[in-house]
Amino acid sequence: MEFSDLLKVRRSVRAFEDAPVEPEKVAAILAAANAAPSAGNLQAYEIYQVMTPRIRAALAHAAKQSFIAGAPVLLVFFANPGRSTRKYGARGKELYAPQDATIAAAYAQLMATDLGLASVWVGAFDDEAVCDAVAAPADWVPAAILPIGYPAEEPEAAPRRAVADLVHRV
Ligand SMILES: Cc1cc2nc3c(=O)[nH]c(=O)nc-3n(C[C@H](O)[C@H](O)[C@H](O)COP(=O)(O)O)c2cc1C
Repeated sequence: MEFSDLLKVRRSVRAFEDAPVEPEKVAAILAAANAAPSAGNLQAYEIYQVMTPRIRAALAHAAKQSFIAGAPVLLVFFANPGRSTRKYGARGKELYAPQDATIAAAYAQLMATDLGLASVWVGAFDDEAVCDAVAAPADWVPAAILPIGYPAEEPEAAPRRAVADLVHRV
């Protein structure tokens, strides 16, 4: 798909077909995440690939968003501040590691769209409950959950601010 079309067709989808995602598509999504830029190329993030129904349910509970359990694949992106702090100190911990995780998740989401899959960025959750659900180390900070699957709904495009409103030319 043309990149400009990809940006136009992506929607947040919160209902998924009861159909698995092909392993090669999951692999392509993870490779896209791995292609994302990161501060100092340190890749201060970690990804959990979750397909087990029990853990999907625990993550849905951690986010108080039941639809999450209905996606066949969940990717959970964590900032791993330790990887960035070694070189960048507090800026690595507070800014670069969360940004590294966020950019990787954005790349993954766009690749999912390119492969005909649907997803939604989930950021509202209890951090500790997410860590518990996947048994992540306590110093990793969850940045986003991406439920991924084949869409069972076709949402309208969400409105956006006008470019002129959000761009400040100085
Ligand atoms: C940082 C962030 C957090 C979000 N958290 C949630 C969430 O917890 N649950 C949810 O259903 N959607 C969540 N969304 C999705 C937004 O609601 C959605 O992207 C926005 O309404 C625009 O719609 P679109 O993605 O279809 O363009 C989040 C998006 C972002 C970027």
